[in-house]
Amino acid sequence: MLSDRTRLVAVTAASNLIGTRPRIAEIARAVHEAGALLYVDGVHYTAHCLVDVEQLGADFFTCSPYKFLGPHHGVLAARPALLETLRPDKLLPSSDAVPERFELGTLPYEFLAGTRAAVDFIAGFDTGATGTRRDRLAAGYRALEQHEETLRTRMEKGLATLDGITVHSRAAERTPTLLLTFDGRSAADAHRFLADRGVHAPAGSFYALGASRRLGLGDTGGLRAGLAPYNTADDVDRLIEGLADFLRS
Ligand SMILES: Cc1ncc(COP(=O)(O)O)c(C=O)c1O
Repeated sequence: MLSDRTRLVAVTAASNLIGTRPRIAEIARAVHEAGALLYVDGVHYTAHCLVDVEQLGADFFTCSPYKFLGPHHGVLAARPALLETLRPDKLLPSSDAVPERFELGTLPYEFLAGTRAAVDFIAGFDTGATGTRRDRLAAGYRALEQHEETLRTRMEKGLATLDGITVHSRAAERTPTLLLTFDGRSAADAHRFLADRGVHAPAGSFYALGASRRLGLGDTGGLRAGLAPYNTADDVDRLIEGLADFLRS
């Protein structure tokens, strides 16, 4: 779809519906060859992967700290020179400097402090790590990825023992975010059944309507089981046991 008329390409670094992680660096090369800019939605990605904006080739990279254990506010990373070229609507007396130009007024200092604390928290996941904060953050993400990968494998193996479930998350590179549907049973029923057992796996399309429709799931979507650093093998086992009971019920 790229042509010399393309100015901006927006793509997700990871699907919050099925976990797919497109090859952003390759996409960036194609986009830049076409003379366009790349905007990367890293909201789901940042919860599971170390971000390197340069390596990804993103001209704009956005994320939401509440997805990586922080408070809820928006983050945009871009080159200052590029941000200079953008003129958002703003109140006359508010600053026109970059980056203040993109803020709504007084900065949310408590959110900024919370975001910094969340980054420090992840940088502390590998208690043996040393070096700069970036080094420790990279080590923290390695620990996080290892933990989530182990649990995802456990979850996928458990799901493979159950009949009547379709797992829609099959991309070669993916986050531990599995979308499930059930033969003849609704995902909403599965969600309620699991919730009664203290297992939180919500049902829906999670704003990813395009992906849900493309998968043939319409606007209904499916049941999403996702993993985070605080999950344990016991959580996974309770999910699998709950689903087995649901399928028998
Ligand atoms: C991939 C992706 N993009 C964007 C968003 C929206 O983020 P926010 O709620 O901060 O607007 C979400 C939230 O779930 C998401 O998963």
